[in-house]
Amino acid sequence: MTRSDEPKVSRRRVLAGAASLGGAALAGTNRTLAGDPKNLPPNVPGWSRVLGDGVAVRPYGKPSKFESHVIRRDVQWLTASRESSVSFTPLHALDGIITPNGLAFERHHGGIAEIDPEDYRLVVHGLVDKPLMLTLADLKRYPRQNRIYFLECAANSGMEWRGAQLNGCQYTHGMVHCVEYTGVPLRMLLEEAGLKTSASWLLAEGADSAAMSRSLPLAKALDDCLVAYRMNGEMLRPEQGYPVRLVVPGWEGNVWVKWLRRIKVGDAPWHAREETSKYTDLLADGRARRFTFVMDAKSVITSPSPQAPLAAKGFTVISGLAWSGRGRIARVDVSLDGGRNWRAARLDGLVLDKAVTRFYAETAWNGEELLLQSRAIDETGYVQPTKAELRKVRGQNSIYHNNGIQTWHVLRNGEVENVEVS
Ligand code: MTE
Ligand code: CO
Repeated sequence: MTRSDEPKVSRRRVLAGAASLGGAALAGTNRTLAGDPKNLPPNVPGWSRVLGDGVAVRPYGKPSKFESHVIRRDVQWLTASRESSVSFTPLHALDGIITPNGLAFERHHGGIAEIDPEDYRLVVHGLVDKPLMLTLADLKRYPRQNRIYFLECAANSGMEWRGAQLNGCQYTHGMVHCVEYTGVPLRMLLEEAGLKTSASWLLAEGADSAAMSRSLPLAKALDDCLVAYRMNGEMLRPEQGYPVRLVVPGWEGNVWVKWLRRIKVGDAPWHAREETSKYTDLLADGRARRFTFVMDAKSVITSPSPQAPLAAKGFTVISGLAWSGRGRIARVDVSLDGGRNWRAARLDGLVLDKAVTRFYAETAWNGEELLLQSRAIDETGYVQPTKAELRKVRGQNSIYHNNGIQTWHVLRNGEVENVEVS
């Protein structure tokens, strides 16, 4: 699968673990490069014969038209409407750790609120000495911080609980993004309002048509939460909560309230819809887990993957992302044989607290079948579990918090399929 709009449903094959997959031998097969001979050396290509666009012809730059297939995509049969739905980050087509703003996945419960910044207000009230009502200009006058964090929806990989389902890491793992936020520490606003001694929880509420709201323990709010208005330097995109969103590092995306309009301080959780009927995990015995805020360590190989098949034999870069809501990534292991043998991947670039980390494992691929897996280990020593280990503890009913190890089956022709190994 390459550029189709909808993912193919995988053949759901469950492979017996680790067939005999020999070690890859060095082979220097050269890729046959296609292209228009008129543009190839020694000819002078078309783009060298004409003047190009001048400056500011493109006042807000866009990617090359040849990259137009690298876009957010949704799966239309997944939800009843597009206003309460999700689009996925094209992880297979990106590198490094920063998600470009236009490609960050979106999850809305009532569509995108378009807020005029002049009309924006943030109210802080409840168990405080002095309620606040702040404009966007007010927020920009507070001392600010810049932090790079991942945001993962608790429902990321939710479709994969019962078996391999969607053929593409954009769809299986694309409810994650990682950008640099600029904002005010929430602690600063709460201290200015003055917390009453009984304060222990707060409610964060959005200004979208869903008025999405979540309860947060005060300790987290005072620790590292940001009231953010910028992503990757520019103002937040409308899709990401323009002009202001809550940043709750390491915790499930649902609590990162977008279009943030109200913070109410209280002494108990509110038991809002998104923390009772949704974002809870039904266990096998009929009880449900609640307030499962932290995103456990997880990783995925982004290339090769079903949307990024192998094009040529020989030297091959395997690449992926790892992240943990508990801190930094300490190590990522990669297996080519369905988890029988592991070797440490190379972490490259910044390895930050509660951000995604980029990993690489170079290999020589000789056209043999591979069962690719990655396994994240974070600085607390937590090891990403297999899907079987996860199901043993959590049963089959869950949707949220699936951080099980993903397997990609590389076929002899270089195509890649989503599978599970038993
Ligand atoms: N905030 C509001 N106000 N409304 C929403 O629908 N969706 C939540 C959260 N904040 C949501 C919201 C969910 S479930 C997730 S995963 C993240 O926002 C998604 O953030 P993103 O759209 O920037 O990816
Ligand atoms: Co979510």
